[in-house]
Amino acid sequence: MSKITVVGAGNVGATCANVMAQRELAAEIVLLDIKEGVSEGKALDMMQTAPLCDFDTRITGVTNDYAATAHSDVVVVTSGIPRKPGMTREELIGTNAGIVKSVVDNVLKHSPEAVIVMISNPMDTMTYLTLKASKLPKQRVIGMGGMLDSARFKCYLSQALQAPASDIEGIVIGGHGDTTMIPLTRFAAYKGIAASALLSKEALDKVAADTMVGGATLTKMLGTSAWYAPGAAGATLVEAIIRDQKKVFPCCVYLDGEYGESDICIGVPVVVGKNGWERIVPLDLNAGEQATFKKSADAVRSMNQVLQSIL
Ligand code: 2OP
Repeated sequence: MSKITVVGAGNVGATCANVMAQRELAAEIVLLDIKEGVSEGKALDMMQTAPLCDFDTRITGVTNDYAATAHSDVVVVTSGIPRKPGMTREELIGTNAGIVKSVVDNVLKHSPEAVIVMISNPMDTMTYLTLKASKLPKQRVIGMGGMLDSARFKCYLSQALQAPASDIEGIVIGGHGDTTMIPLTRFAAYKGIAASALLSKEALDKVAADTMVGGATLTKMLGTSAWYAPGAAGATLVEAIIRDQKKVFPCCVYLDGEYGESDICIGVPVVVGKNGWERIVPLDLNAGEQATFKKSADAVRSMNQVLQSIL
């Protein structure tokens, strides 16, 4: 039977745990936080939905007790501060790098075989930090950002096309930043029909622009960053790992020459299964898309420089 740990019982971590429990992804989910009572309270509240939502997963809340997370198959890291209105994800790096590094150190002491799913922002930088600091095999460190950005892309596409989101194909690659993500409009489709054949260029460009500031739009409305879609995207990624689904998702992974980049963690399509990400899927990018990807990679790489002092 599987065990999953979620570190950080804030909005994103708690939502992720809740969705995973409702999908019964594991026998046990451990929710860990540094604030006494928060994870215990949220776990108990969720457990009281079990008779209503009909799941048997046990959810345990703990305060900083990493021993309780032992033998987890997957660990989801959501720790750190979220952004406030007007902030970029990149501005969080100073605070979140130290937090994420210590979380990963602690987690691996008790679950040395776990696959690490990174959600904390700036997500590309935190994924790279985790991989470098832990020295884990690259397949076992996987950042969630592209799945969230793709969900937002598909949502905006479905609204523009007035079609159900589940009938839409859409993929966002590159960094998980307002200026670094790349919604691939050329690959977007509705039931196999290219979105570009159904929407004007202006409408499609607006969908892409709305996607890129999707997180910032919500942060402005909510006063803090979003949680329903980030939590559900994390849960969907964990599901592919736990159930060994071999699904293709755009995730932040380490590139070693693929897509023309090396020594960087950035979003590309990957096959996800029980070992984490198992294979990078090549996309036939045109020259413009390839150039945009390079620009995104340059920006993501420059953020990694900030990690020098902590690695
Ligand atoms: C977002 O885009 C939290 O980065 C996350 O909403």
